[in-house]
Amino acid sequence: MILGILGSAAKDSVTREVLLRAGERVERSGGRFDVVDLAVEFPRAHALEDYDDPPPGSQTALLRARVARADGAVLATPVYHGSFSALLKNALDHLTGDALAGRPVGLIAAGGGPRGAGTACDQLRTVVRALSGWATPTHVATTAADLTPGEPLDFLDRRLDDLIGELLSFRTSPLSLPVLG
Ligand SMILES: Cc1cc2nc3c(=O)[nH]c(=O)nc-3n(C[C@H](O)[C@H](O)[C@H](O)COP(=O)(O)O)c2cc1C
Repeated sequence: MILGILGSAAKDSVTREVLLRAGERVERSGGRFDVVDLAVEFPRAHALEDYDDPPPGSQTALLRARVARADGAVLATPVYHGSFSALLKNALDHLTGDALAGRPVGLIAAGGGPRGAGTACDQLRTVVRALSGWATPTHVATTAADLTPGEPLDFLDRRLDDLIGELLSFRTSPLSLPVLG
């Protein structure tokens, strides 16, 4: 199962729409795609006292369990002041440093203009690394205009194809490698 983590609380969210298009690709490839809508499911600030030993049923325990069940993730964020959303950062702050170990992570950011979103994706790459995940080379930096039918949407879809293709082609190393030489 691939877990989409949505970091926008907007009603008509561009980020959500692009994330769902990514999810359709996972499902068309025979995989399962779940979405965590952080604004609905995990809106509270991270409780630092829960970090080391999260009480059962706490937001930290529930979010960690959700991430632990995933074979990979797609982090999707709006661009706010040149960066990714606090909603998404707050969620990632609940996780431990090995939370994404051995798993691929796709990155999607939606900005108001065509340039801001790439920066947010690059910033997320460093967070994915801190959580021991493997960010795919392709990210999708987008804007509402990319949802215009025709060439803009076709181009967005091709980028989503690349992102999900890389995500699903990720394989962990076999446990025992042949001895070389
Ligand atoms: C507080 C705030 C700050 C924003 N800062 C930026 C920005 O720095 N660069 C940018 O390209 N867009 C910026 N935007 C525009 C949003 O990224 C854009 O509306 C995007 O579609 C939001 O995604 P959503 O529709 O999924 O919520 C900002 C919007 C808000 C509300």
